[in-house]
Amino acid sequence: MTQPPSDAPLLRACRRQPTDRVPVWFMRQAGRSLPEYRRVREGISMLDSCRRPDLVTEITLQPVRRYGVDAAIFYSDIVVPLKAIGVDLDIVPGVGPVVAQPFASAADLDRLPDLTVDDVPYVDEAVRLLVAELGDTPLIGFAGAPFTLASYLVEGGPSKGHERTKALMHGDPQLWHALLSRLAAITGAFLRVQAQAGASAVQLFDSWVGSLPLADYLTHVQPHSAAALAAVADLDVPRIHFGVGTGELLAAMGEAGADVVGVDFRVPLDEASRRIGPDRAVQGNLDPALLSVPPEVLERHVLRTLEAGSRTPGHVFNLGHGVPPGTDPAALQRVVDVVHAWTPPAS
Ligand code: CP3
Repeated sequence: MTQPPSDAPLLRACRRQPTDRVPVWFMRQAGRSLPEYRRVREGISMLDSCRRPDLVTEITLQPVRRYGVDAAIFYSDIVVPLKAIGVDLDIVPGVGPVVAQPFASAADLDRLPDLTVDDVPYVDEAVRLLVAELGDTPLIGFAGAPFTLASYLVEGGPSKGHERTKALMHGDPQLWHALLSRLAAITGAFLRVQAQAGASAVQLFDSWVGSLPLADYLTHVQPHSAAALAAVADLDVPRIHFGVGTGELLAAMGEAGADVVGVDFRVPLDEASRRIGPDRAVQGNLDPALLSVPPEVLERHVLRTLEAGSRTPGHVFNLGHGVPPGTDPAALQRVVDVVHAWTPPAS
């Protein structure tokens, strides 16, 4: 008998229900750290690979087969929906998303129409293929949050300080809100396409939002992240909300409406949960840098993370950010095995 995904450990932990083991998956579990990924991607660009349901299915399944993780994460990228509605951009290897004409004025809003399933038929098809293949393993759909997408559009590419983004936010708040409203609609629609095709949970990536003070987050970002999360509120899919460097923002990110807040490696999970409150589970947060230390040191840190997680209302084990491309897959396997063998201390 296959277990219905609704009872899978990942989904139970997201809902703060008891589980017989701590569920574990990794952000960027699919990708360059896997030789089988590098093989199938040979000669095919990142964005082209995202538009091929056969490749998306294969790449998404690779880490599930190899590690026995508790979830698959849909293979795509946060800029795929923007490309699909006609934004001229590319993903440059070793760099990241690069936008041909950065967003600069109200006229550019016209280049951000609504997204429908007809813009991303390959996403709908790949999710359906995956759900059929995955059986009792849940598929997590995802999208980029409005702030992080705006940062790529406004800067034209990756940025350390997000200066242009902040200049638009503070210099022309009206245009900023118009931009983030457009992006929230696109992101919400992209999450909805994946959930309606059968994804069991969704994650909203606000990777760069940790660059903001809390006051700016509350005024300029949170309402738009909340709108994106609200787009799937009626679909009974747990919603995970993740960002990097968000120690000061954790409570406010929880209040944007997610069921689970993803925590990076800077704040221990029990302390993060205290900031977020008892009504939300947490996900995280092993420092990815520890994947390259000797096994016994790695194991000690995994156990420490599990213990902190046991003092929260619900814990999904993950890294504090994505798997670094040079990671030895054996280290990830060790993490999965330690997490699965662990039983919480009697309370
Ligand atoms: O396994 C998974 O997690 C699923 C796939 C996934 C990718 N991108 C595939 C990818 C996910 C969830 C993303 C999200 C994403 N993309 C984020 C949010 C997560 C985070 O890391 O904070 C961001 C900021 C992006 C933008 C982006 N796309 C960057 C910064 C890069 C890296 C550029 C590089 O070459 O170093 C990409 C490209 C990308 N997205 C790759 C993969 C597997 C690498 C491209 C390749 O293998 O050629």
